[in-house]
Amino acid sequence: MLKSIKPSVTLVGAGPGDPDLLTIKGAKALAEAKVVLYDALANEEILTYAPKKSIKIFVGKRKGCHEYTQDQINQLIVDNALTYGHVVRLKGGDPFIFGRGSEEIDFIESFGIPTAVVPGISSSVAVPAYQGISLTKRGVSESFWVITGTTSDRKLSTDVALAAQSSATVVILMGMSKLAQIVALFQKESKGEIPVAIIQNGTMPTEKIGVGTVDTILNVAQNNKLGSPAIIVIGEVVRESNKLKSFYEEFVISKTA
Ligand SMILES: C[S@@+](CC[C@H](N)C(=O)[O-])C[C@H]1O[C@@H](n2cnc3c(N)ncnc32)[C@H](O)[C@@H]1O
Repeated sequence: MLKSIKPSVTLVGAGPGDPDLLTIKGAKALAEAKVVLYDALANEEILTYAPKKSIKIFVGKRKGCHEYTQDQINQLIVDNALTYGHVVRLKGGDPFIFGRGSEEIDFIESFGIPTAVVPGISSSVAVPAYQGISLTKRGVSESFWVITGTTSDRKLSTDVALAAQSSATVVILMGMSKLAQIVALFQKESKGEIPVAIIQNGTMPTEKIGVGTVDTILNVAQNNKLGSPAIIVIGEVVRESNKLKSFYEEFVISKTA
């Protein structure tokens, strides 16, 4: 007799890149997967937690690969759940931080398919942490903002201008193509001297870092050939990182020499 299929979907946050930053609950969900749909920012090493015979489908953006639209991904998740049972949707960082996780959940649940979410360690906090940047610090920063550099209509979020007026640490994702605009907004608030760190491929062996100030970071990014995926951290806490001290001192000394 054929076993009846029980469709279900678990959204799992894969963490920022280092495969060891997957949660234990995420690994347990993968171990029960019949199908895994994964993004470009989810480290492929994590797939080893899924059964060998499970189906793995890459739905991210990568040169030479078919590019799926969000509607196609939503449909693929549902079709695979109805056909095979438990689907794990593996997403970079945390599924609900600029990850379209809630859109996927809404679509899947409209078919009556049960869903669960396993939060992931977001790059917004983990990537700075690997560089010793404490996003809040007693006496230095009382809060942090995490903002997208690129909204759904491809514009810089208007929140960046508001954040530039605050004393918070500002963390910008997907902001590299808008770096000049970001710099201009902080300069408008007379914040040219505020330290900035850009970290590309954070927590990965391919990690690249650039440190400077609002006034110099465009040059730093260009000289170090920094590109996406990267996190931009703006705030005094960057100066406080022991790990980045040498970068920062090197930069300040070379600037004043
Ligand atoms: C679509 S958002 C997804 C964010 C993800 N859900 C999270 O919580 O980390 C993708 C952006 O996250 C940032 N990002 C993700 N992983 C990163 C990493 N390992 N190093 C630097 N930036 C990263 C980049 O700004 C990238 O463009």
